[in-house]
Amino acid sequence: MHTQVAIIGAGPAGLTLSRMLHLQGVSSIVLENRDREYIETRTRAGVLEQPTVALMHELGVGDRLSTEGMSHNGFYLRFDRATHHLDFHRLGGGHATVYAQQELVKDLVANRLSTGGSLLFDAEVTAIETTADGARILVDHAGTPLEITADFVAGCDGFHGVSRAHIPAGRLREHSRTYPVAWLGILARTAPTTPEGMYCAHENGLSVHSMRGPRITRQYLQVPADTDLDDWSDERIWDELALRSASDDHPELERGEIFDRSVAPLRSYVCETMQDGRLFLLGDAAHIVPPTGAKGLNLAVSDASTLSHALGAYFAAGDRSFLDAYSETCLPRIWKAQQFSWTLTTTLHALSDDPMDWQLRRARLGRWVESEAEQAALGEVYLGLPFPTRWNFTG
Ligand code: APR
Ligand code: PHB
Repeated sequence: MHTQVAIIGAGPAGLTLSRMLHLQGVSSIVLENRDREYIETRTRAGVLEQPTVALMHELGVGDRLSTEGMSHNGFYLRFDRATHHLDFHRLGGGHATVYAQQELVKDLVANRLSTGGSLLFDAEVTAIETTADGARILVDHAGTPLEITADFVAGCDGFHGVSRAHIPAGRLREHSRTYPVAWLGILARTAPTTPEGMYCAHENGLSVHSMRGPRITRQYLQVPADTDLDDWSDERIWDELALRSASDDHPELERGEIFDRSVAPLRSYVCETMQDGRLFLLGDAAHIVPPTGAKGLNLAVSDASTLSHALGAYFAAGDRSFLDAYSETCLPRIWKAQQFSWTLTTTLHALSDDPMDWQLRRARLGRWVESEAEQAALGEVYLGLPFPTRWNFTG
């Protein structure tokens, strides 16, 4: 089987790229290790920047996003028992849209299949071989070996995928930071405590109070990195969420049925370069941000936009310059998102027992709530810096 672009992984990066290539008349095959139900139901974050939302509309996959996505002007911050709203929309225009990542994945999968695009589930890529003018991909497709040849390979296979290891160690410069904390995330049948998401900074650690609908909340607790979920009963989760979000200006958090729970580590990671010959890395395969600020999905979509533009230019006009510049085009925006996520992470989490650290964090939180200049700067990045390039499709 031959295709112009073999795409490994059907997460936001791979699926968005396949849609953009399709609209530019470039063929691709998406190879996904897991089954359809798994990728459409796994619980992930869900805050979309405005460039992400705008792109989904351009790609013709924004219908459900417009009706079911919740458009937010900013977020709430709570510390020292007081609640503050950071209204980024008022200062700079634009919105963030709360829409679960797996819902976007569902929309992209439905679109891919309804437009006759090739998308194989239970298709695990086991080996990648690249040469100067193409690539060969070996796949285990539900137990049957499959060989695909392609002009290019897009490694969209997440942090634990196989693509990144294909870049020779000598060419790869890895930047990595792990945090001594994780996020315990729940989905619960309760009404949100504030009309937009809220971060609470408390001496016991961060809590996050987000939502998925008028009666469904998505909430997180900072917990130690080695946390065992079995140690957290429903009651303990609610007690800790209530304690960290206690305030003098709002009623106590509503409690209800918890129907999904998980623990996820916090990590910052970037690999430079994001390309080698015919192979390009996108999304979590190339970089990880801690969840504070919810940048992961948006970076994956931004990479897809950049690569789609570069591949479009190559196949339409034989111009390889954008492909050659792919990594250096993506990296500045990725580093700005890393910096933003790191600032939010270190300001909102309790990462040390040193009282001076808490005073420094309080001072920064104080500036964020008192200064419109600080808010405007935060808002620019939270709502989404422009994507590095406009992709080719103009229809
Ligand atoms: N062969 C085929 N598919 C693979 C392989 C493989 N060898 N290894 C991994 N995959 C698949 C995974 O099953 C997964 O569905 O690649 C996909 C990668 O998708 P994501 O993890 O969603 O990564 P990405 O598209 O980069 O999106 C990043 O996802 O992890 C979140 O917070 C992160 O929001 C960010 C987003
Ligand atoms: C979410 O709604 O899942 C969410 C909100 C804010 C974050 C991360 C995730 O920082």
